[in-house]
Amino acid sequence: MLRRPRARAWHPFQRHNHLPSVPKLAGQPNHRAVLYAYAMPVLEPPPLRHENPFRILAQDLADERAATVPYPPGDTSFSIPRTKRFIEEPLPLLLEAYERYGPIFTLRILHSNVVFMLGPAANHYITVSHAANFKWRESHFRDLIALLGDGLLTTDDPYHKRARQIMLPAFHRERIAASIDTMLAETERALEQWRPNTRIDLYAWTRRLATRIAMKALFGIDPDGPAAREIDAAAMFEQALAFYASRYEFRFLRFPGTPWARLQEASKRLNRLLYTQISHQRATGERGEDVLSLLLDAHDESGEGLSDEQIRDEMMTLLFAGHDTTTSTVAFMFYELAHAPHLADRLVAEQHALLDGQAPKAPQLMSGELAALEMTLEETLRKYPPAWVGPRKSVEAFEFEGLTVPANSYVNYSSWASHHLPDVFAEPDVFRPERFSPEAKAALPKGAYIPFGGGSRTCIGMRFGQLEVRTIATLIASRFVLELPGEFILQYRQMPTISPKHGMPMLVRERSTSSGHSRVGERSDAGGHPAAGIGSDEASPQREPVGERVGALDRETH
Ligand code: HEM
Repeated sequence: MLRRPRARAWHPFQRHNHLPSVPKLAGQPNHRAVLYAYAMPVLEPPPLRHENPFRILAQDLADERAATVPYPPGDTSFSIPRTKRFIEEPLPLLLEAYERYGPIFTLRILHSNVVFMLGPAANHYITVSHAANFKWRESHFRDLIALLGDGLLTTDDPYHKRARQIMLPAFHRERIAASIDTMLAETERALEQWRPNTRIDLYAWTRRLATRIAMKALFGIDPDGPAAREIDAAAMFEQALAFYASRYEFRFLRFPGTPWARLQEASKRLNRLLYTQISHQRATGERGEDVLSLLLDAHDESGEGLSDEQIRDEMMTLLFAGHDTTTSTVAFMFYELAHAPHLADRLVAEQHALLDGQAPKAPQLMSGELAALEMTLEETLRKYPPAWVGPRKSVEAFEFEGLTVPANSYVNYSSWASHHLPDVFAEPDVFRPERFSPEAKAALPKGAYIPFGGGSRTCIGMRFGQLEVRTIATLIASRFVLELPGEFILQYRQMPTISPKHGMPMLVRERSTSSGHSRVGERSDAGGHPAAGIGSDEASPQREPVGERVGALDRETH
């Protein structure tokens, strides 16, 4: 059973008559002022129509029967092999259907018709121009609510909009830049485990690292503190998310030993970690510049704030979205670099030219100055966009490219499939970073490249994720060459982001320093730990202008 969406959601509020004061950042509006500006009543998210999987199935069939306009053409017979294929290898399935039917088609997945819309115009239609006609909450990913609760990802406007307004200040450029110290220090720490000529699972290693970074940078949780040490948060996510990789039939089962029961168990343990931090900060009044502090201080005109449960939901959502995607991106990037060592060499040459042995500073990594790194990241996210599908449900019937779609239909856009359309990206299976040279990128049609979604649901953690991947990739590439074992064959799993099914086993080789250059982070004019304190150097001459205003992220529509 899905956990009941709380009847109160934003209510009943907990009273904060004596809100702790929040330190003002230089050049930044005071938190509390920002929150007062947004302090408007927030509605509760609408309850799900059904939570029981069998009732959902019955409702889906009823919706289909009630359709007043035809579905787009496609493969609409009941088919277990197609359903299995959708779970195991959705990309070729979608590309074949695109060949046959064009940019909009229907596939019956298990019992229900699912409409797919692919390509630049379709992506723009769903995420930007007609976004209000699509809801996330009743989409075929609604099972995620069992783990994430009613967070940013799983709710719709107006609840979603308010929550996003509250959290946006924590994702401003300056705040993200400040997290580079955590990213550098944690990556350095994690790299200390690597020994040349040994084998590692890069995917599992990055999941641990990214979970630690997210806990610390987003919520101020000490990953080595007692609450975090009690559980292995990365392993708990792996366990919980396995539910979404299990076979559809098994997802209906809700007794001990099933994927559902394992999800519940992991979720409970993660909850303990999150609630411990919430109550600690409520009790002590401790605040930082992180997203948890913003959530704790958010309140409306009457002084009412968010409940612990609401804050937990937002935290769980950010923790999930904030580590799962970056983990896959790092793994896929080094998979490609292992096949094209000249591209890895190019990254290192660029580091030598621009970093000269110093740890990278946030402005350098955020400005696109390391152009080869930037193009490599963008091409990785083209070929392997971790959040590969944008699940929605239509509100009203609509028409796209001359074909109708009924109200209450499952409708998905897919970055993964859209990024593999040969009419948009020539030779889509070839890894070619030059596709993202500034000129080539500018020539892409609107909606063609959407690894972070678009419109008002554009990934709120985009800058955080990009900075994190760039940081991790820079430090790895400067010190090590990663090779794939000869027997490795890449297979995918989706749970629900795409990741390498059997992890990413890699052989670690030390990168030679014969050129006489020092490796990134080895030279430090600041003394002490090479990464400490220099990443977000305010005085860097390369520092780009900051001062992004609230809402700027929301204006990016890709
Ligand atoms: C490489 C890294 C990442 C990629 C490729 C990525 C991709 C995406 C995509 C495609 C969406 C939109 C999904 C949709 O339209 O249904 C999304 C939403 C979201 N992402 Fe990310 N993401 C990344 C990193 C992060 C990080 C680091 C965080 C948190 C710190 C994060 C938090 C979120 C949240 C909360 C949403 C929901 C936003 C909303 O609906 O308002 N993501 N992400």
